[in-house]
Amino acid sequence: MSSERQPIVSGNWKMNNNHFEAIQCVQKLAYLLQKEDFDAVEVTVHPPFTDLRSMQTLIDADQLRLKLGAQNCHSEDKGAFTGEVSPVFLGKLGVHYVIVGHSERRELFGETDEFVAAKVAAVLKHGMAPILCVGETLAEREAGVTLDKVKRQVGIALEKRSNEQVKNMVIAYEPIWAIGTGKNASPADAQEVIAAIRAEVASVASAPAANAIRLQYGGSVKAGTIADIMRQPDIDGVLVGGASLDPTEFARIVQYRRHAF
Ligand code: PGA
Repeated sequence: MSSERQPIVSGNWKMNNNHFEAIQCVQKLAYLLQKEDFDAVEVTVHPPFTDLRSMQTLIDADQLRLKLGAQNCHSEDKGAFTGEVSPVFLGKLGVHYVIVGHSERRELFGETDEFVAAKVAAVLKHGMAPILCVGETLAEREAGVTLDKVKRQVGIALEKRSNEQVKNMVIAYEPIWAIGTGKNASPADAQEVIAAIRAEVASVASAPAANAIRLQYGGSVKAGTIADIMRQPDIDGVLVGGASLDPTEFARIVQYRRHAF
């Protein structure tokens, strides 16, 4: 973690928590987190689409410092795309961050690198920041092609973006074999891949963009594992799935500095 880049901890709820449960979860989280936590760490929560309006209302009414996120969006502003959600709509709901190209979207719903790149462009165009997910399968890791794959994913997503746009993005390195499995990449392995992602950003965009962009690790992050991850020089935050559903555990993840350094 670098002192110039603000750490960012993001909770990806996936297809969990209806809008009543979402309100309870966020109220509990807001109670557990203090001003000093929000001063130190940017905290984003990514509920299902149907929860966004309720959460926006709660965040506004209680002036919470949590940032609202979404888990996906379409690349077009509007049109004949039954069942899809426009980035314009997300912007109107006070969404700051949109997860783009999560491995579950790529693997289960067939999203290609090109479609993911179009979504990155759309999210930025509407004043939000993408959290672009990249990562390898176990077979790819064992075949030694991890770096080739993540560099290709990053390159295609960033190639048409301006330096200013890239600076505002977040990239999450999520090894697919570590998601929801309880298995972690070791902090050193995560650092190696994330350093390679930063180098790729420098070559596709620029050195200042690579220095500004924030890079997260994701995959079975828990309160007990985050401190060692955040000690790595290129890791600026974490994208948390399962552990973000429990406000007590997620608050402890956000508060990693209190029990770690
Ligand atoms: P996990 O999910 O923390 O449950 O492994 C991470 C993610 O998919 O973003």
